[in-house]
Amino acid sequence: MKVTIIYDNRSAKEGWRSGWGWSVLLGNNLLFDTGSDPEDFMENLRKAISPEKIKEVVISHPHWDHTGGLFTLAKESPGIRVYVGEGFSHKFQEELERKGAEVIRGSGWRVLRDGIWIGPELPHPVPEQFLVVEGKDRVLLIGGCSHPGIENFARLTREKFQKPMIVMGGFHLFSAPESKIREVAEKLRDYGTVLAYPSHCSGERASRIFREYFPVEKAGSGTELEF
Ligand SMILES: [Fe+2]
Repeated sequence: MKVTIIYDNRSAKEGWRSGWGWSVLLGNNLLFDTGSDPEDFMENLRKAISPEKIKEVVISHPHWDHTGGLFTLAKESPGIRVYVGEGFSHKFQEELERKGAEVIRGSGWRVLRDGIWIGPELPHPVPEQFLVVEGKDRVLLIGGCSHPGIENFARLTREKFQKPMIVMGGFHLFSAPESKIREVAEKLRDYGTVLAYPSHCSGERASRIFREYFPVEKAGSGTELEF
């Protein structure tokens, strides 16, 4: 399956826009998060796919930098299904439904389709869920901002799948002290991380320190990987 970073704080490819936010396309019709600036988001998305092909969106948590393109997408892709956690705002849900989207709330591990799972929403400090793609020999864990801790998402993923892990997303460590970054890195390594793509709100320092624990790839809008 092709995995494409649609929106990130930095751009990895000529012509791709960047901004504070996060969005990833899986295959050709599933999105995880929708960036912040709707125009930049749609511009990047169109480089990868026709937006009306998107049928399903998983939203990690209802913050502006992950939901910015959602209303525009709901208009361009009528009947889109949006998967959210139990902590998702009810007002936000009503607004999405008015724009023609179907909102599906859930909790715990949920199979979205063959080999693609939504991970349990963790409640603190911000309710947030994550995505896991299960491959034959390894899994891909994608976080949004990882407010509840990327290491906690990784622990749950390890417990469930028992496979080496590629970890991608915002790790929310941009203002964390070095001791905290090392603590997270150690846990990620212990849970089987074999490769990381620190993006969005991870911070340069975390990317640098993580390299001491496991391989790290630089990523940004336009980055593609085959999983
Ligand atoms: Fe974020």
